[in-house]
Amino acid sequence: MSTTPWWRSAVIYQVYIRSFADGNGDGVGDIAGIRSRLPYLKSLGVDALWINPWYKSPMGDGGYDVADFRAIDPLFGTLADAEQLIEEAHRHGIRIIPDIVPNHTSDQHVWFQAAMAAGPGSPERERFIFRPGRGPDGDLPPNNWVSCFGGPAWTRLPDGEWYLHLFAPEQPDLNWQHPDVHAEFESILRFWFSRGVDGFRIDVAHGLTKDPELPDLAGDQTPHPHWDRDEVHAIYRTWRKVADEFDDDRAFVAEAWADTPERLAAYVRPGGLHTAFNFDFLMASWDTKDLRRVIDDSLAMLSGVGAPATWVLSNHDVMRHTSRYARKTVARWVPNQRYQPEGDIDLELGTRRARAAALLMLALPGGAYIYQGDELGLPEVEDLPETVLQDPIWERSGHTDKGRDGCRVPIPWSGQTEPFGFSSDDAYAGPWLPQPANWGQRSVEAQTGDETSILELYRTALHLRRHNPALGDGTMTWLDAPAGVLAFRREPGFTCLVNLSAEAYQLPDDTAILLASGPVPNGRLEPEQAVWLAV
Ligand code: NOJ
Repeated sequence: MSTTPWWRSAVIYQVYIRSFADGNGDGVGDIAGIRSRLPYLKSLGVDALWINPWYKSPMGDGGYDVADFRAIDPLFGTLADAEQLIEEAHRHGIRIIPDIVPNHTSDQHVWFQAAMAAGPGSPERERFIFRPGRGPDGDLPPNNWVSCFGGPAWTRLPDGEWYLHLFAPEQPDLNWQHPDVHAEFESILRFWFSRGVDGFRIDVAHGLTKDPELPDLAGDQTPHPHWDRDEVHAIYRTWRKVADEFDDDRAFVAEAWADTPERLAAYVRPGGLHTAFNFDFLMASWDTKDLRRVIDDSLAMLSGVGAPATWVLSNHDVMRHTSRYARKTVARWVPNQRYQPEGDIDLELGTRRARAAALLMLALPGGAYIYQGDELGLPEVEDLPETVLQDPIWERSGHTDKGRDGCRVPIPWSGQTEPFGFSSDDAYAGPWLPQPANWGQRSVEAQTGDETSILELYRTALHLRRHNPALGDGTMTWLDAPAGVLAFRREPGFTCLVNLSAEAYQLPDDTAILLASGPVPNGRLEPEQAVWLAV
């Protein structure tokens, strides 16, 4: 038995609950749906599920506006359903990691309701960030911060005070200088840990602490007044102690957007969080130099603090990578800006690259995240009609940015017509976002057993990875390779090659192919393909 903690090597499957599987026919995914698909997840070979927020919420931002952290939203089920899911998943050998959202609550949370009722100067308001406005009548926001969804980060109440929301107005920011906020979240963590969850994904982990002076944003000042401030780590040192009160290795993963790998590594120092998403990999262009730099920098910084890397290609906030890679040139993502790819879409190219990227990611040292539908090669749905859009970004951007719904379309399980098995046959409502008419070709049913499908590629890769001692946690060594080819070795006896060049690459003779992202005629690794070798 290996003694390496599970989270150093885990492959974690992200369940965007409202779009994964609908158990009650209302067109929205739910806990019953996840339970019914546990055998699929087991056979896919994932170690854990990260489940996007399932808490009671008015759903102003897909559940990231939480009204009650100890209750499940009726749309998704009940607390008993959640407990049953945790128990059943564990029986399948799958761990469960819910999301926790500590930067803000919903405006429907009892604390915010109490704060609004109690009025200016009340202790209830101190749990959030209320301020008088600027200007003679106080009708200008307290500072110039902007919401991540567009528009000012402040909203004024009828009594004249303003409150801060780094996201939508329905998501008031909590005041992490207030002891109640600390105590409440420690209690919420214990509530769920004692119900058996194996960890948490921490939403906006880099945003909790703000400069108490709330200064105007003035370009590139450091430290930033509300992102990635050093004080935030003290919170996570306490959270680590809470996790350590429980047995079975509970683990955190931070959603922390940090400017540099050094800043990211600070979240996962000893005594802090266990892991943090490696968004630099997701933001890299499809280019050997860029990928190599990102991989080297991430591994150097993380191993310097003894933490594993956690690679990620897609999630519910970004354009699906099959579509990002479908543009001939894949631009490097500019942090803090929405990704707007240019150029014609070639989904066949995007799929070839997505297959190669999967083998690359799953061969790198550390853990990895799969966003639901990655394993089906789903593209972004770029042509959703404006009338169906639900992401607050659409409204807040003044209808200039369609937002993130295109990566959140319910996934296809079977059949040739909507809802493609997402809801039961007797569903009384259609899927909450429409599915493309041709998604039957990409369904789990259509791909299962087809050795050429991306689903079977993922399944085989995950099973090989589970049993190959060279994969998961550990180190890697780059090998010499021609320009445009990435080649690295992992011990014992494993090599991964990815050909990003326009020429085929002849594999060495003394190797056996474990898995390839496409045909390898006469040992030739074709452009945009990857291979795993036993050496
Ligand atoms: C990050 C989440 O991933 C995103 O979906 C959400 O809108 C924001 N945090 C605000 O909670």
